[in-house]
Amino acid sequence: MASNNQFVTFNNGEQYPILGFGTWKSKPGEVEEAVKVAIDTGYRHLDCAMFYGNEKEIGDAINQKIDEGVVSRQDLYITSKLWNIFHQPDIVETVLNKTLTDLQISYLDLYLVHWPMAFKEGGLDDDFIPKDDDGVTIEGEGSYIETWQAMEQLVENGLVKSIGVSNFNKRQIEDILNIATVKPVNVQVECHPYLNQSKLKEFCDENDIVLTAYSPLGSPDNPCRKPEDPSLLENPTILDIAGKHGKSAAHVLIRYQIQRGVMVIPKSVNKHRIESNFYVWDFELDQEDMDQIDGLDCNCRYIQMKEIEHFKDYPFIDEY
Ligand code: A2P
Repeated sequence: MASNNQFVTFNNGEQYPILGFGTWKSKPGEVEEAVKVAIDTGYRHLDCAMFYGNEKEIGDAINQKIDEGVVSRQDLYITSKLWNIFHQPDIVETVLNKTLTDLQISYLDLYLVHWPMAFKEGGLDDDFIPKDDDGVTIEGEGSYIETWQAMEQLVENGLVKSIGVSNFNKRQIEDILNIATVKPVNVQVECHPYLNQSKLKEFCDENDIVLTAYSPLGSPDNPCRKPEDPSLLENPTILDIAGKHGKSAAHVLIRYQIQRGVMVIPKSVNKHRIESNFYVWDFELDQEDMDQIDGLDCNCRYIQMKEIEHFKDYPFIDEY
């Protein structure tokens, strides 16, 4: 039920539901139904991005649920992200407007810079991953500092309530904090028990920035995943804790983030799992459970983008 939503408060006073609905990897053709089920279930926070290639279908679902009277726009908290070929400041508002058109809304609740590194600059009709003749992704020239200044303008213009970043490391977040006139409210990163981001979380806590965990279930459907990558949903410690509480492994992984005060956005396109993942309010992990889960951290990053690790703003070089 929607009334079960728990909220975090951003440093600008805006509130946001701690449990959101992930849409990365949800294909057009399946995402519309998934978002409708999610809204019916009670999810009010929808995590989107232009790069996911499905914002139009998500917009259709939102529009239908608003038309049906299930929710109003104000009940929803909608996030999207600015892709890497759009870091040049003079295109940022145009790109945001395309997202708003696709989502069929007039403002975003939260807009994130998707990655710190710029790809070769392009327009809305260009390849999102520009490649040279050898198939190598082409780096852009932009700096995320200038991109951030354009993001601030979106808040000024009332198109976006809050802004933040995704996949930035601590040093890069500091760069933003050093020049920001509008502070980032949120940092979205890969986060789960194998990569619990405790140091980044501490840094974010010190700076009054809320962390969001993407791939909280370990993204078994992640296209970059290697067969040797360990499966979180089958981890014996997680399964033991799930058994102890009579819940599923996914419930434990979601609840873990909620109890740390981390926003969490599990993805599913399956009706049963969408509904099930929302029912995490009727149990509590105890300190021993939390310590055991914290003990699983092994710096295992599923999403690495290794092919662009030579880019100047590639984030996963620093310790955190
Ligand atoms: P599906 O979409 O078919 O439900 P993450 O949020 O970490 O990216 O993980 C998403 C992946 O986890 C998808 O493959 C999704 O499949 C699967 N998934 C989502 N919820 C559950 C669940 N409760 N149990 C098992 N797998 C799940």
